[in-house]
Amino acid sequence: MWTGIIQHYRDFLPVSNKTPIVTLQEGNTPLLLSKSLSQRVGLEVYLKYEGLNPTGSFKDRGMTMAISKALEKGARCVMCASTGNTSASAAAYAAASGALKCIVLVPEGSIALGKLAQALIHQAKVIAIKGNFDDALTLVKTITQKYPVELVNSINPFRIEGQKTASFEVCDRLGDAPEYHAIPVGNAGNITAYWQGYQEYHNSGRAKRLPKMLGFQASGAAPIVRGKVVSEPETIATAIRIGNPASWKKALQARDESKGLIDEVTDQEILEAYKRLAGDSGVFVEPASAASVAGILKLHTQGYFQNKRGRIVCTLTGHGLKDPHIAVENIEKPVSLPPDMDVILKAIGF
Ligand code: F0G
Repeated sequence: MWTGIIQHYRDFLPVSNKTPIVTLQEGNTPLLLSKSLSQRVGLEVYLKYEGLNPTGSFKDRGMTMAISKALEKGARCVMCASTGNTSASAAAYAAASGALKCIVLVPEGSIALGKLAQALIHQAKVIAIKGNFDDALTLVKTITQKYPVELVNSINPFRIEGQKTASFEVCDRLGDAPEYHAIPVGNAGNITAYWQGYQEYHNSGRAKRLPKMLGFQASGAAPIVRGKVVSEPETIATAIRIGNPASWKKALQARDESKGLIDEVTDQEILEAYKRLAGDSGVFVEPASAASVAGILKLHTQGYFQNKRGRIVCTLTGHGLKDPHIAVENIEKPVSLPPDMDVILKAIGF
């Protein structure tokens, strides 16, 4: 039986018998071979569907660790800044702990409704600030330094420890690391975590290969690509609308050590990949998640994979139901007809 990432990978995690484990049985997510993407790109393309974690995003891997360690330390309250998913996950795991309060700061008006609903229903104290994610994170860092509140953003090293287990799962399923790993980049915690995970598995002899890390930011929020802070980040992919990533340096390290790259994809490219994933692969993700697929399609068009062999894994970070209005706004609306058999048959084309 699967009992969550801490139990399964405890030899690789900083936990002891004294650590009270708070889990919603996260992890063990599908790794799907996409026929249509493989045909298009010419290499085997796999989708690591992290939207199937308990709160619908990869954050749960990090949060089971961060919340368990906060509890072990005797904390009473946790806090984060968030574009939505971190807050949903923190709120759920704090609730599951039965002991921790959760406070979240979100940028007003730019988090998906599903994520806001999650944070609220799990009874977090939600404060919407008239600013962006970067402003929220600055406030949270200061508050958690001064007051007895545990920070659970990805600058908390336990978050990274938990999130690295996604690389372990990929290696366990494929028998080795893939040649390439594509991933959306926002605050840059996840690319840091995956790279750490691949390195640890490699060092322990469980993987022979190390993948090239391919990170993708949205063009309107691409500080790492541009090499400078973006003070007013803008993108349809609100989850990665971040202008000053906390793990910037570590993302560069992952890029350089793996001989990979960090590139940008436009909102148009993100939306195309988003629709293609749902339409051709049967996988509904939120827009930010489609950045990894948009990225490999862009690289393919540029000839990056030409004469290359091997496997590409794309992390799909969050579930499409988090943000359904983006889907509804970007597809043909359903026709509205009277309940008349002839009219319906005609509309179907029978
Ligand atoms: N994809 C989704 C769906 C996300 O929610 C995030 C980050 C990312 C990608 C980027 O991951 O920050 O580790 O580089 N969301 C954070 C949040 C910022 O607050 O939920 P990253």
